[in-house]
Amino acid sequence: MTFDRQIKIAPSILSADFADFGREIRAIEDQGADWVHVDVMDGHFVPNLTFGPPAVKAFRRHVRTVMDVHLMIAPVDPYIAAFADAGADILTAHVEAGPHIHRTLQAIRAAGMRAGVALNPGTPADAVDPLLDLADLVCVMTVNPGFGGQSFLDLTAKVRRLRAMIGDRPVHIAIDGGVDTTTAPMVCRAGADVLVAGSAVFRGGSADEPSAYGANIAAIRRAAQSATGAMA
Ligand code: DX5
Ligand code: ZN
Repeated sequence: MTFDRQIKIAPSILSADFADFGREIRAIEDQGADWVHVDVMDGHFVPNLTFGPPAVKAFRRHVRTVMDVHLMIAPVDPYIAAFADAGADILTAHVEAGPHIHRTLQAIRAAGMRAGVALNPGTPADAVDPLLDLADLVCVMTVNPGFGGQSFLDLTAKVRRLRAMIGDRPVHIAIDGGVDTTTAPMVCRAGADVLVAGSAVFRGGSADEPSAYGANIAAIRRAAQSATGAMA
């Protein structure tokens, strides 16, 4: 994985057909997804349960791009080795998930993955200021984590602040929650480069009818690029 700030669309398979993950992953990648975003929830850090390392390892067999694993679990550290074994390229932990986020990010990199740090909507950008040399990605949650399909919380000022804090460091800013063609330009103008989107990508399509996924991904990318003046 090389670093760049081109807009990346990372569909969240939380909005996929849970009985058909293999075909859904292949469909979104064939339709232009840059990364595949995998939401791991524990029913404790967030009020919902999804899947653990064995399922994520099974998804890996279908992912040809980048598997971006977002842990909404606490604690994190006991599971880092299992997610490395499952084949995560990027492993993101929440700054709110435990008292020792430095240790967690160091352990993620030591296990051979890129390290991400996620912020709940109520956590200020400054919480990651001491972490920017230990992280490859900062994920700004623009909904309260736990469910897809919630409405976007406007945290563009926080994104702008983070972008300034990051400066020239090779650290991505990902936005997760309520991203669509209206909100993508707002956050990309503020400095985000990775757009996680569940409902706005999977809406209207299926593994049998994947062209809607392609149209949705292209529309989000176009909207984001027009906001930043990037070439379509
Ligand atoms: C929310 C998850 C998100 C979610 C985004 O807790 O982390 O990745 O699936 O879904 P949408 O795009 O529908 O808000
Ligand atoms: Zn997520």
